[in-house]
Amino acid sequence: MPKSKVFSHVFDEETLRNVNKLRGDGYIGDLLGPIGTGKESYVFYSRDFHKKEVAVKLHRHNIYSFKKIPSYIRLRGRKSGGFIHQINDWARFEYYFLSKAYKLGINSPEPIRCYENIIVMGFIGENGVPSKPAIKDSDFDAEHWYSTIIKFIIDMAKNGFIHGDLSPYNILNWNKEPYLIDFSQALKLSPLTKDFLIRDIQNINKWFLSLRFGRIESVDTILGNIGLENDS
Ligand SMILES: Nc1ncnc2c1ncn2[C@@H]1O[C@H](COP(=O)(O)OP(=O)(O)OP(=O)(O)O)[C@@H](O)[C@H]1O
Ligand SMILES: [Mg+2]
Repeated sequence: MPKSKVFSHVFDEETLRNVNKLRGDGYIGDLLGPIGTGKESYVFYSRDFHKKEVAVKLHRHNIYSFKKIPSYIRLRGRKSGGFIHQINDWARFEYYFLSKAYKLGINSPEPIRCYENIIVMGFIGENGVPSKPAIKDSDFDAEHWYSTIIKFIIDMAKNGFIHGDLSPYNILNWNKEPYLIDFSQALKLSPLTKDFLIRDIQNINKWFLSLRFGRIESVDTILGNIGLENDS
Protein backbone atom coordinates (compact mmCIF):
# COMPACT_ATOMS: atom_id res chain seq x y z
CA MET A 1 0.00 0.00 0.00
CA PRO A 2 1.47 3.44 -0.80
CA LYS A 3 2.53 5.42 2.26
CA SER A 4 -0.14 8.08 1.78
CA LYS A 5 -2.79 5.31 1.87
CA VAL A 6 -1.35 3.88 5.08
CA PHE A 7 -1.51 7.31 6.72
CA SER A 8 -5.04 7.92 5.61
CA HIS A 9 -6.02 4.63 7.27
CA VAL A 10 -4.40 5.67 10.53
CA PHE A 11 -5.13 9.39 10.62
CA ASP A 12 -8.18 11.48 10.21
CA GLU A 13 -8.32 14.15 7.52
CA GLU A 14 -7.67 16.97 9.94
CA THR A 15 -4.39 15.36 11.09
CA LEU A 16 -3.31 14.70 7.49
CA ARG A 17 -3.90 18.36 6.69
CA ASN A 18 -1.82 19.38 9.69
CA VAL A 19 1.03 17.03 8.67
CA ASN A 20 1.00 18.53 5.17
CA LYS A 21 1.11 22.06 6.55
CA LEU A 22 4.20 21.25 8.67
CA ARG A 23 5.79 19.50 5.71
CA GLY A 24 5.09 22.49 3.45
CA ASP A 25 6.68 24.80 6.00
CA GLY A 26 9.83 22.64 6.15
CA TYR A 27 9.50 21.57 9.80
CA ILE A 28 9.22 17.90 8.82
CA GLY A 29 9.84 15.60 5.86
CA ASP A 30 8.59 12.05 5.40
CA LEU A 31 7.28 10.46 8.57
CA LEU A 32 9.22 7.27 9.32
CA GLY A 33 8.54 4.67 11.95
CA PRO A 34 6.45 4.99 14.02
CA ILE A 35 9.00 4.96 16.84
CA GLY A 36 6.25 5.07 19.45
CA THR A 37 2.56 4.25 19.54
CA GLY A 38 0.41 4.90 22.53
CA LYS A 39 -3.31 4.95 23.12
CA GLU A 40 -3.24 8.68 22.63
CA SER A 41 -0.43 9.40 20.25
CA TYR A 42 1.91 8.26 17.52
CA VAL A 43 5.54 9.39 17.46
CA PHE A 44 7.41 9.38 14.15
CA TYR A 45 10.97 10.03 13.13
CA SER A 46 11.64 12.61 10.44
CA ARG A 47 14.14 15.10 9.14
CA ASP A 48 13.38 18.76 8.62
CA PHE A 49 14.20 20.92 5.62
CA HIS A 50 17.82 21.21 6.82
CA LYS A 51 18.07 17.41 7.35
CA LYS A 52 18.07 17.84 11.11
CA GLU A 53 16.58 14.82 12.89
CA VAL A 54 13.25 15.47 14.59
CA ALA A 55 10.58 13.54 16.46
CA VAL A 56 6.97 14.23 15.48
CA LYS A 57 4.25 13.47 18.02
CA LEU A 58 0.69 13.32 16.71
CA HIS A 59 -2.04 13.39 19.30
CA ARG A 60 -4.81 11.17 18.10
CA HIS A 61 -8.32 12.40 17.72
CA ASN A 62 -9.87 9.35 19.33
CA ILE A 63 -12.49 8.31 21.82
CA TYR A 64 -10.17 7.14 24.59
CA SER A 65 -8.64 10.58 24.99
CA PHE A 66 -12.05 12.17 24.76
CA LYS A 67 -13.14 10.38 27.96
CA LYS A 68 -10.04 11.24 29.93
CA ILE A 69 -9.31 14.77 28.86
CA PRO A 70 -12.14 16.90 30.33
CA SER A 71 -11.24 16.20 33.98
CA TYR A 72 -7.60 16.94 33.24
CA ILE A 73 -8.36 20.16 31.43
CA ARG A 74 -10.33 21.24 34.48
CA LEU A 75 -7.32 20.46 36.69
CA ARG A 76 -5.40 22.73 34.39
CA GLY A 77 -7.94 25.42 35.07
CA ARG A 78 -9.34 25.51 31.54
CA LYS A 79 -12.85 25.14 30.20
CA SER A 80 -13.23 22.20 27.85
CA GLY A 81 -14.38 23.10 24.35
CA GLY A 82 -15.24 20.83 21.41
CA PHE A 83 -13.51 17.54 20.80
CA ILE A 84 -10.81 18.58 18.31
CA HIS A 85 -10.29 21.75 20.28
CA GLN A 86 -9.60 19.62 23.37
CA ILE A 87 -7.02 17.43 21.65
CA ASN A 88 -5.27 20.49 20.26
CA ASP A 89 -5.34 22.05 23.71
CA TRP A 90 -3.76 18.87 25.03
CA ALA A 91 -0.88 19.13 22.54
CA ARG A 92 -0.47 22.84 23.32
CA PHE A 93 -0.17 22.12 27.03
CA GLU A 94 2.38 19.38 26.44
CA TYR A 95 4.38 21.76 24.27
CA TYR A 96 4.10 24.54 26.84
CA PHE A 97 5.48 22.40 29.68
CA LEU A 98 8.15 20.78 27.47
CA SER A 99 9.30 24.31 26.57
CA LYS A 100 9.44 25.32 30.23
CA ALA A 101 11.50 22.24 31.12
CA TYR A 102 13.86 22.72 28.18
CA LYS A 103 14.42 26.38 29.07
CA LEU A 104 15.26 25.37 32.65
CA GLY A 105 18.04 23.19 31.28
CA ILE A 106 16.34 19.90 32.07
CA ASN A 107 17.45 17.15 29.68
CA SER A 108 14.47 16.93 27.34
CA PRO A 109 13.76 17.21 23.60
CA GLU A 110 14.17 20.67 22.10
CA PRO A 111 10.69 22.11 21.45
CA ILE A 112 10.55 23.12 17.79
CA ARG A 113 6.93 23.66 16.75
CA CYS A 114 3.41 22.94 17.92
CA TYR A 115 0.71 23.06 15.26
CA GLU A 116 -2.84 21.97 16.10
CA ASN A 117 -2.49 18.37 17.37
CA ILE A 118 1.16 17.91 16.33
CA ILE A 119 4.38 18.55 18.24
CA VAL A 120 7.73 18.68 16.45
CA MET A 121 10.69 18.29 18.81
CA GLY A 122 14.35 17.36 18.94
CA PHE A 123 15.09 13.70 18.30
CA ILE A 124 16.60 11.88 21.29
CA GLY A 125 18.90 9.44 19.54
CA GLU A 126 21.10 9.42 16.48
CA ASN A 127 20.98 8.42 12.81
CA GLY A 128 17.35 7.41 13.01
CA VAL A 129 17.89 5.16 16.03
CA PRO A 130 15.88 6.45 19.01
CA SER A 131 17.34 6.13 22.50
CA LYS A 132 15.58 3.46 24.51
CA PRO A 133 13.34 4.13 27.49
CA ALA A 134 15.15 3.32 30.75
CA ILE A 135 12.75 0.44 31.34
CA LYS A 136 14.47 -1.31 28.40
CA ASP A 137 18.00 0.01 28.86
CA SER A 138 19.30 0.16 32.42
CA ASP A 139 22.93 0.61 31.39
CA PHE A 140 23.55 3.73 33.50
CA ASP A 141 25.05 4.89 36.79
CA ALA A 142 22.14 4.63 39.26
CA GLU A 143 23.61 7.14 41.70
CA HIS A 144 24.09 9.77 38.99
CA TRP A 145 20.67 9.12 37.50
CA TYR A 146 18.84 9.23 40.84
CA SER A 147 20.37 12.53 41.91
CA THR A 148 19.87 14.03 38.42
CA ILE A 149 16.22 13.00 38.15
CA ILE A 150 15.41 14.19 41.69
CA LYS A 151 17.10 17.49 40.88
CA PHE A 152 14.94 17.78 37.75
CA ILE A 153 11.80 17.16 39.84
CA ILE A 154 12.87 19.81 42.37
CA ASP A 155 13.80 22.35 39.66
CA MET A 156 10.46 21.90 37.91
CA ALA A 157 8.51 22.17 41.18
CA LYS A 158 10.42 25.28 42.24
CA ASN A 159 9.43 26.73 38.89
CA GLY A 160 5.80 25.86 39.49
CA PHE A 161 5.14 22.68 37.52
CA ILE A 162 5.14 18.88 37.66
CA HIS A 163 5.92 16.34 34.94
CA GLY A 164 2.98 14.24 36.14
CA ASP A 165 3.89 10.90 34.53
CA LEU A 166 7.49 10.21 35.52
CA SER A 167 8.52 6.60 35.15
CA PRO A 168 11.24 4.57 33.41
CA TYR A 169 8.93 4.53 30.36
CA ASN A 170 9.16 8.30 29.97
CA ILE A 171 12.88 8.68 30.62
CA LEU A 172 15.18 7.87 27.71
CA ASN A 173 18.78 6.73 28.12
CA TRP A 174 20.76 8.92 25.73
CA ASN A 175 24.53 8.41 25.98
CA LYS A 176 23.94 7.23 29.56
CA GLU A 177 22.20 10.46 30.55
CA PRO A 178 18.50 10.62 31.53
CA TYR A 179 16.21 12.57 29.16
CA LEU A 180 12.65 13.31 30.24
CA ILE A 181 9.98 12.98 27.56
CA ASP A 182 6.19 12.95 27.36
CA PHE A 183 5.04 16.08 29.20
CA SER A 184 1.47 15.28 28.14
CA GLN A 185 0.29 15.01 31.75
CA ALA A 186 2.28 17.92 33.16
CA LEU A 187 0.48 20.29 35.50
CA LYS A 188 1.02 23.55 37.31
CA LEU A 189 1.96 22.91 40.93
CA SER A 190 -0.83 23.93 43.29
CA PRO A 191 -2.49 22.53 46.43
CA LEU A 192 -4.87 20.73 44.03
CA THR A 193 -2.06 18.98 42.15
CA LYS A 194 0.51 18.37 44.90
CA ASP A 195 -0.48 14.69 45.01
CA PHE A 196 0.77 14.32 41.42
CA LEU A 197 4.16 15.64 42.51
CA ILE A 198 4.22 13.14 45.37
CA ARG A 199 3.25 10.35 42.94
CA ASP A 200 6.13 11.27 40.60
CA ILE A 201 8.60 11.15 43.51
CA GLN A 202 7.18 7.83 44.72
CA ASN A 203 7.39 6.33 41.22
CA ILE A 204 11.04 7.29 40.91
CA ASN A 205 11.81 5.99 44.41
CA LYS A 206 10.07 2.66 43.72
CA TRP A 207 11.93 2.27 40.45
CA PHE A 208 15.35 2.90 42.05
CA LEU A 209 14.51 0.60 44.95
CA SER A 210 13.74 -2.10 42.36
CA LEU A 211 17.23 -1.43 40.91
CA ARG A 212 18.57 -2.10 44.44
CA PHE A 213 19.81 1.46 44.74
CA GLY A 214 20.31 2.07 48.47
CA ARG A 215 20.38 5.84 48.82
CA ILE A 216 16.78 6.84 48.25
CA GLU A 217 15.62 10.13 49.79
CA SER A 218 12.26 10.22 51.53
CA VAL A 219 9.32 12.03 49.94
CA ASP A 220 9.31 14.42 52.92
CA THR A 221 12.97 15.31 52.44
CA ILE A 222 12.43 16.00 48.74
CA LEU A 223 9.30 18.06 49.43
CA GLY A 224 11.32 19.93 52.07
CA ASN A 225 13.92 20.78 49.43
CA ILE A 226 11.16 22.27 47.34
CA GLY A 227 9.90 24.24 50.33
CA LEU A 228 6.74 22.15 50.76
CA GLU A 229 5.38 19.95 53.52
CA ASN A 230 3.77 16.56 53.21
CA ASP A 231 0.26 17.01 54.54
CA SER A 232 -1.36 14.03 52.85
N1 LIG B 1 11.85 13.23 21.20
C1 LIG B 1 11.92 11.89 21.09
N2 LIG B 1 13.04 11.29 20.61
C2 LIG B 1 13.12 9.95 20.48
N3 LIG B 1 12.10 9.10 20.79
C3 LIG B 1 10.96 9.63 21.27
C4 LIG B 1 10.81 11.05 21.45
N4 LIG B 1 9.58 11.28 21.95
C5 LIG B 1 8.99 10.08 22.07
N5 LIG B 1 9.80 9.08 21.67
C6 LIG B 1 9.49 7.64 21.65
O1 LIG B 1 8.10 7.47 21.46
C7 LIG B 1 7.51 6.80 22.60
C8 LIG B 1 6.16 7.41 22.90
O2 LIG B 1 6.32 8.78 23.23
P1 LIG B 1 5.52 9.46 24.42
O3 LIG B 1 5.84 8.78 25.69
O4 LIG B 1 5.73 10.93 24.34
O5 LIG B 1 4.02 9.19 23.97
P2 LIG B 1 2.90 8.29 24.62
O6 LIG B 1 3.41 7.42 25.72
O7 LIG B 1 2.14 7.69 23.51
O8 LIG B 1 2.07 9.38 25.24
P3 LIG B 1 0.84 9.16 26.16
O9 LIG B 1 1.44 8.96 27.53
O10 LIG B 1 0.09 10.43 25.95
O11 LIG B 1 0.13 7.93 25.66
C9 LIG B 1 8.52 6.96 23.71
O12 LIG B 1 8.45 5.90 24.63
C10 LIG B 1 9.84 6.97 22.98
O13 LIG B 1 10.28 5.64 22.73
MG1 LIG C 1 4.89 7.88 27.32
